Amino acid sequence: MSFKDKQVLVVGGTSGLNLGIALGFAAEGAKLAVASRNPDKVGKAVETLKAAGAEQALGFQVDVRDPEAVQSMYQQLGEHWSSIDVLVSGAAGNFPAAAADLSPNGFKAVAEIDLQGAFHVAHFGYPMLTRPGGHLIHISAPQAYQPLPMQAHVCAAKAGVDMLTRTLALEWGREGIRVNSLVPGPIANTEGMDRLAPGDAMQQKVAQTVPLCRLGQWEDMANAAKLLSSPLASYITGVILPVDGGWSLGGVSLAMSHLTQSLNKSG
Ligand code: COA
Ligand code: NAP
Repeated sequence: MSFKDKQVLVVGGTSGLNLGIALGFAAEGAKLAVASRNPDKVGKAVETLKAAGAEQALGFQVDVRDPEAVQSMYQQLGEHWSSIDVLVSGAAGNFPAAAADLSPNGFKAVAEIDLQGAFHVAHFGYPMLTRPGGHLIHISAPQAYQPLPMQAHVCAAKAGVDMLTRTLALEWGREGIRVNSLVPGPIANTEGMDRLAPGDAMQQKVAQTVPLCRLGQWEDMANAAKLLSSPLASYITGVILPVDGGWSLGGVSLAMSHLTQSLNKSG
């Protein structure tokens, strides 16, 4: 599954599983660019990608909430690349908070990063997507289909992301652009897991709620992103694909009830 010289931009790709996806494409010879808010993280991610063989890796500082900043990111990228073969859109924010306690600004912060930000990335990235053959991947979350306590902000935003996926797949299919969502399960060594299931003991409990009896690794996400971006998937668009060891079969709500109990005890 070679991606030699394919141009892959990962927005929100400076840490966690999104950086894992970037590294996965780098391992197959792709050219990489990553973007996020924190310039130190951007710099470190670029160095990591270069060390992994993506010698011309690029990095951009952007806050996806700001449409002008997103436009500027694409303008800067356009000085290096004339098109994008794979656009991974995975910038996100999360923290556990009960809806009754969550301030309007707290809800807005997550909705603006996850949903409005995904729109900005897709909308302003659209002109650069390769035609035919371009692929937009949204990084969704189980919260998009499974209502969870203390996650109203994330559930609402990620459900919107998946509907954006399906709508864009309809609108852009005629130009040969595919749009899909990947829905990670609980992925080890990530900020998201550390925020929602802090500590080894809690993460082991979560692993026991996964039918395949383990947490996901970033390689699982990278492999799914490559599979879905490969010619083997050229007739697949508008799909919301769980990459979760079967967690979507019921384990998500079980894991969340452990978490809610433990947060309630500690609160
Ligand atoms: N519980 C309740 N409310 C919270 C909160 C928490 N743990 N953390 C932040 N908020 C609220 C803040 O109080 C603020 O609302 P207010 O103005 O009414 O007080 C609002 O959210 C915005 O907070 P702020 O810190 O200014 O936002 P930010 O734009 O700097 O950061 C976040 C965005 C809050 C999402 C931050 O957690 C972040 O940057 N996350 C990125 C990394 C991440 O979440 N990774 C996991 C991905 S799954
Ligand atoms: P992470 O490392 O915190 O990744 C989030 C990325 O988004 C970072 O690169 C962050 O960098 C960037 N980002 C945040 N706010 C941004 C903004 N306003 N503008 C631009 N970039 C922004 O967390 P992760 O756990 O690996 O999560 C990655 C993705 O997977 C997210 O979409 C998340 O919803 C999804 N997911 C994760 C899990 C899991 O188990 N971890 C499960 C389901 C879904 P900066 O801080 O530099 O901006």
